[in-house]
Amino acid sequence: MQVNNPQRKPHILLAACGCVAAVKFRSLCHGFYEWAEVRAVATRAALFFIDRASLPKNIFLYVDDDDWLNWRKIGDNVLHIQLCSWADIMVIAPLSANTLGKIAGGLCDNLLTCIVRAWDYSKPLFVAPAMNTLMWKNSFTERHLVSVDDLGITLIRPETSGGEQCNGVMAEPSHISATVILYLELQRKKQETSEQ
Ligand SMILES: Cc1cc2nc3c(=O)[nH]c(=O)nc-3n(C[C@H](O)[C@H](O)[C@H](O)COP(=O)(O)O)c2cc1C
Repeated sequence: MQVNNPQRKPHILLAACGCVAAVKFRSLCHGFYEWAEVRAVATRAALFFIDRASLPKNIFLYVDDDDWLNWRKIGDNVLHIQLCSWADIMVIAPLSANTLGKIAGGLCDNLLTCIVRAWDYSKPLFVAPAMNTLMWKNSFTERHLVSVDDLGITLIRPETSGGEQCNGVMAEPSHISATVILYLELQRKKQETSEQ
C-alpha cells in the first residue's frame, strides 16, 4: 500500500450517498483536500444534495454515467476498476441505509457499489452512515453492519444528537478526516517500528 509513501500525498476516494448529510460532502472534500489527493464519487440520489460547484476545483466528481461512457470497446479501461487501483483509501460519507444494504448483500448496480465490490480489502475502506433514527434502529442495520464488518470495512459511528431520541446523525466531517489521519499515523509508526 502506498499510503505512507513520502513521495506523494495519499490518494483518497470520497463517496457520497443520497442522505441529507450529503450537504456536508463539500466540507468533507475541502477537509481532505488540505492533505490528500482526492477524487469523488456520488450516487444518483447524492447529486440531489451536492452542489458540484462548491467542491474544490481540482476534485473530479464521478457519477454513474462516467462508468458507462468511459468504455467503448474491449481493451478500454473500466472506470470503477481504475478508481479502485488509484485509491489508497476509500471513505463513504454519508453512507445511506440503501447502499449499506447493497454492500452487505454484495450488490453492485452503480459506480459506488461496483467500486466497493471490486475493492482490494488489504486497503482500508471507511463508512460513515447517516440516517433517520428509526432507519438506524431497524434490525436490518445491525445485520448489515455485521456483514460489512466481516468484509473488513471500518465503521465511523454516527453521532447521537438530542440524546437517545435522535441517533443516526453522520459523524462530523472533521471527525471523519481525523479518523483517517489517525489511521495513517498509526500505519506510519508501525512501518517505522518494523524498519528499526
Ligand atoms: C429528502 C430525502 C432525504 C433522505 N435522507 C436519507 C438519509 O439521511 N439517510 C438514508 O439512508 N436515506 C435517505 N433518503 C433515502 C435515500 O435517498 C434513498 O434510499 C436512495 O435510494 C439512496 O440511494 P443511494 O444509496 O444510491 O444513494 C432520503 C431521501 C430523501 C428524498
